[in-house]
Amino acid sequence: ALIGKGNHRHFMLKEMHEHPEAVSNTLRSYLDPTTRAVTPPDLPFDWKDVPRLTITACGTAFYAALIAKYWFEQLARLPVEADIGSEFRYREAPMPAGGVCIAVSQSGETADTLAALRYAKTQGQTILSVVNVPESAMARESSVVMPTLAGPEIAVASTKALTAQLVVLATLAIAAARARGTLSREREAELVAALVEVPSRIAEVLNNDDAIAAVAHRIADARDVLYLGRGVCYPIALEGALKLKELSYIHAEGYPAGEMKHGPIALITEEVPVVVVAPTDSLADKIASNLEQVHARGGKPVLLSDAAGVARLGAKAFAALTMPAVDPFVAPILYAVPVQLLAYHAAVAKGTDVDQPRNLAKSVVVE
Ligand code: G6P
Repeated sequence: ALIGKGNHRHFMLKEMHEHPEAVSNTLRSYLDPTTRAVTPPDLPFDWKDVPRLTITACGTAFYAALIAKYWFEQLARLPVEADIGSEFRYREAPMPAGGVCIAVSQSGETADTLAALRYAKTQGQTILSVVNVPESAMARESSVVMPTLAGPEIAVASTKALTAQLVVLATLAIAAARARGTLSREREAELVAALVEVPSRIAEVLNNDDAIAAVAHRIADARDVLYLGRGVCYPIALEGALKLKELSYIHAEGYPAGEMKHGPIALITEEVPVVVVAPTDSLADKIASNLEQVHARGGKPVLLSDAAGVARLGAKAFAALTMPAVDPFVAPILYAVPVQLLAYHAAVAKGTDVDQPRNLAKSVVVE
């Protein structure tokens, strides 16, 4: 069937408005809201015996892999390596017997991710894939396919596939933690409840789109924009920077906020907006001091935080967006949305071809 843009100006905007549906449809396959338990697929191994998990992907899907690394390590106490497909396929990395490899991909066809998956197979790893296209090459070559139910994605820049990938990986990390005995039944119920709320919280963010567009207009004239995040939200800084550069052609870099003092701080002038991804979590004090350092050097912090964070730091920010307060576990799923919207509106302000940015392809099936 022909897919239209509906009432939206671009496919990308339509697809960002489908985040809640992508998340809730995917959640429905991987958890049971009444028992507040995850319902993972049958796996041909026991998580207790897995010495290491490797997650490989490209582009935005790689940020899902990086976020999942934090989840699996913290919840399941499982060593995780996350690497970009084009690096991993040539690294000749030794992989332990009994290891598991997850490939994450919207299309299931990205050449470098597929080659990384095949390398992991030669190393005797059990292959899982998280793909949005169940008939894809990656799905065919995996022992277990965990589909995302995001629906077709047309815009070149991946949006709703990311939040759906995160949902699958979050539930899988909970399942691994349960199997490894590192997560109480009560905490599992809390995490599942937090996941179940995500679609409504994302809808609130989408309803705040005018405020996000207003902030985007204030950064659209910048030559460079920095994005900072910490912990599980560090990859959201990477996603924000990637989306801004590919859609609006503004130079942007994402950094782990603690690394700012080792280089990016040299770039901070009153010309440089610094988007700070700062949900209230265990690292909130650390990122608050990073924001204060930007402010003290005359930079322009753009704060993304909940009401508590905005109350604390808003006065030092050049602009602030108030996000719904959520369990820090699901914060990266929620904060993916405003960084994508910021990039979208900056691109619209600059008049670029949002759905088909120059030189980019939806899926890169050749090396
Ligand atoms: C291209 C797209 C990105 C996407 C990446 C990986 O670069 O422009 O939006 O994240 O490929 O694609 P995949 O289909 O493997 O998720």
